[in-house]
This record gives sequence, C-alpha cells and structure tokens, in this order.
Amino acid sequence: MKELRHFLEPRDLKLQEYEELFELVDKIMANPKDYSEIARGKILAALFFEPSTRTRLSFESAMLKLGGSVIGFSEASSSSTAKGESIEDTTRMASIYGDIIAMRHPEAYSPCKASKVSTIPVINAGDGGHQHPTQTLADLITIRAKFNRLNNLKIGFCGDLKFGRTVHSLAQAFSEYENNSFVFISPKELKMPDYVKQELEQKDMPYIETDNLEDAIADLDIIYMTRVQKERFEDADEYERLKDFYILDGEKMSKAKDECIVLHPLPRVNEISCEVDSDPRAWYFKQAEYGMYGRMALIIKLLQLDCDKVLRLKYYELEGV
Ligand code: NCD
Repeated sequence: MKELRHFLEPRDLKLQEYEELFELVDKIMANPKDYSEIARGKILAALFFEPSTRTRLSFESAMLKLGGSVIGFSEASSSSTAKGESIEDTTRMASIYGDIIAMRHPEAYSPCKASKVSTIPVINAGDGGHQHPTQTLADLITIRAKFNRLNNLKIGFCGDLKFGRTVHSLAQAFSEYENNSFVFISPKELKMPDYVKQELEQKDMPYIETDNLEDAIADLDIIYMTRVQKERFEDADEYERLKDFYILDGEKMSKAKDECIVLHPLPRVNEISCEVDSDPRAWYFKQAEYGMYGRMALIIKLLQLDCDKVLRLKYYELEGV
C-alpha cells in the first residue's frame, strides 16, 4: 500500500526530498509537455475557506497542467461550513470525491485537523497566521534559481512578521541550510513570533531584529517584503497606523546589493512601490511562476505518480514503437 503523506509545514519534507522536488521542477520547466498527462484521472479538491488568488489559481493550474481535474470552493460561504459543518466532515467528503486536498483556512492548524481524518494527502495552502509551506517551496525554488544554492545567504524579512505566515515557514525551511542568517525587520508590534525564533536558536542560526529597513538593506542577499495582514488585526486603527510602515522604493533599492533579489509572496498593497517592478532585482512575479511549478512537482510527489512512465513513453515515441 502507498504511504499517505501530507505537507502541513516545511519540515514534513526532508532536505533530500526538497532536492528531488527542485530537480523535478527543472525537468517540468524544461519539458512541460512530458508531464501533461501524468495526473490524468486524478482530482484535486481545492478547499479554500479564505480568499486567495495566486495560491488557488496556481494549485488549479498546476493540476490542470498535469492532466488532472479540480473540484472545490473558493470561499467558506459557498461550502457547508456556512451550515455549521466541521473541518473534519468536510474533509471526509473531499476524501471521497478527490485524490488530494489543498486547504486554506483562516484558523491555524485546520489542515492539520483535516489530515487526521483524511484518507488522501492534505496540503496546507495557508492556515491563519501560522504556516504556508507551498509558498516556501516557491520561495526556495526562486532563491535557488538566482543563487544556485540555498546556503550562505543573508535574508531580510520585512513587514508583518507576526501574522505573515509565509515568513514563519520560510524561516523554518531556510534554517535547515548551512550558514544562512536572518534580519527580522518589523515595527515592535509585528515582531517575529517567539516559537520561530526559538527554533532558530535551537539550531544556532543567527538572527537580528530591527525596525530600520534603510540600515539593514545594504547587507541583504534577499529582501523579502510582506503585506501587513489586515484581516488578522483586532484593532482597525492599529492596522491603519502600521500598514505603510515600510515602502520599498527606488531610493532604498539604490542602497541594496547589485546581486540581491526582492521577493514578496503577493498580493502587495503599498509595501513595494511600482517603480521597483522594472528593477532587474525584482523577482516577485517570477516567484509566483516558480510557485506553480513547485506545486506541480509536489502533487506528483504526494500522489506518487510514476515519473519513469514519462521517460518510457518518450523513449517509445522516439523509437516509433
Ligand atoms: C500570502 C498568504 O496568503 O499568506 N499570499 C500568498 O499565498 N501568495 C501572503 C499574503 O496574503 O500577504
């Protein structure tokens, strides 16, 4: 019987498995047609209880590009959650209809709860202010594409580090590689949670905290901007006060390294001014594209689809069999 695997946080995959995914991404990007039938007959259940553009569309297009199909919903109000159904029951249903689940939910640990009752793989597509491991996959693929390595890099996370789940996940994954260091740039109200910092301390990973982007920027290989997460604030005035705390513009970019890259999980609000988009160091749109390929590779892995078959078919085709 096939082993049931979930992807709830970055550490659910070993470094070797990330390497395999990166290699698969390279192959898919080089020859997308070779993989266009590999998931034929398989169904992705996209259970999105919270708004999303990139993550949902990227999961959907990833599955369609592999030849599979997609079912699901894009807001809780159009599912039975609106009638009071539990996460567990919705998951049981999705396990009957689908082959793999991608779940986004406003509450932390919901995909984890789902995984306890699911008979098919569950992917966390973002749970509250907690984790977002497939965004991390996109981030790692992008960083690797630029630097050809995932070690010996200095990454600055800037913005809402308290509620921004993407930075929690990326810090966890990035600290698995040697000699990386972190600069956490945020107002004091939006600092990186203690549990993330404690994990870094346990691994002897150096980090510093500051509220000053201008001072920190010159040293960074990766400038990772984040949106202030309006939907997680209890106090609307506090959001208004903090929302434009950092705006990365051309002037600040003039202090950054020539070889750095700017990442952002998107959507952006004001935190990167549009003038930066034409800077060759702005990699955030490429990052979204890599995310789709990363999700294709992840679906292939978790569904344990037969990649050798792709090669066999290609061989037969070449041989005219
Ligand atoms: C992020 C998310 O949903 O956490 N977006 C994404 O998935 N690309 C970041 C955000 O919403 O700010």
